[in-house]
Amino acid sequence: MIIFQHATDLQRHLNSKKKEGKSVGFVPTMGALHMGHMSLIERAQASTDITVASIFVNPTQFNEKSDLNKYPRPIEADIEMLHHQGVDVLYHPDVTDIYPSNAEPEFDIDLGYLNEIMEGTFRPGHFQGVAQVVDILLHRVQPDQLFMGQKDYQQIAVVREMIRQKGHQTQLVMCPIIREPNGLAMSSRNRRLPPDIRSQANLLYHTLLYAKSMKQIFHITDLEKRCFERLKKPHFRPEYFNIVAGETMKEVRTWQESPTVVACTAVWAGDVRLIDNMVL
Ligand code: PAJ
Repeated sequence: MIIFQHATDLQRHLNSKKKEGKSVGFVPTMGALHMGHMSLIERAQASTDITVASIFVNPTQFNEKSDLNKYPRPIEADIEMLHHQGVDVLYHPDVTDIYPSNAEPEFDIDLGYLNEIMEGTFRPGHFQGVAQVVDILLHRVQPDQLFMGQKDYQQIAVVREMIRQKGHQTQLVMCPIIREPNGLAMSSRNRRLPPDIRSQANLLYHTLLYAKSMKQIFHITDLEKRCFERLKKPHFRPEYFNIVAGETMKEVRTWQESPTVVACTAVWAGDVRLIDNMVL
């Protein structure tokens, strides 16, 4: 595995590989890697010749400074995992390589209503930061395929919209959610959960399963309310439980309105914010 810290070196290397006719798959991450990240890498390895992963804890997408400061950064273990997995290239820039002048680049992507629902409402500025950094990374890596997780369903919609507006020539591939044995969706933030809360944090998964099993039985609004109430437990505080159209992320009010319907939720477990979703 070759590790690059500077965009110019990364691009020189990738350009030479592309001239040889190699296809490039890209998996952007913020590190603290787990099996969810590894599943995206496996998918990239199966589909493209060269797999590029990036690790960059992007400051512009953290709406709370404390969350940025607390974000785990076990870089040596991460490098070991990627090396073991047979990743070809790791791009591990520092902040100045991504945002060269101290002034942040102007943000010129209009996310519209995607920014006004669910994660957009509860994490102001988060998706602008995500769209901004993925745009910069795509310019640098220019991958044939970009692999991202369903775990962050709304993030995928945001990145799809950014790709459309910016005209990036890449295919966005959505990969399934990898869960811990008890059903908790894997996340870098899980390691901050105290053991007693962590063992109960499959509450989100079970509530999503409940929603799936009750599809068609309740009206959507009623089911959303019931699920929201089920998420209220000691140490757990739900922010939203919304049932939306899988393609557009718009609210649906009847089960027939959209071919794919997704339940999305965000819940505070102690002082850790968890998100999860399920296609119903
Ligand atoms: P991060 O949270 O590190 O996630 C990197 C990628 O791994 C994302 O596409 C995410 O959806 C995927 N992922 C996380 N947990 C997963 C799981 N349990 N199963 C499957 N895939 C999972 O998402 C980000 O970083 C950042 O916002 C980023 C896109 C890198 C931009 O900074």
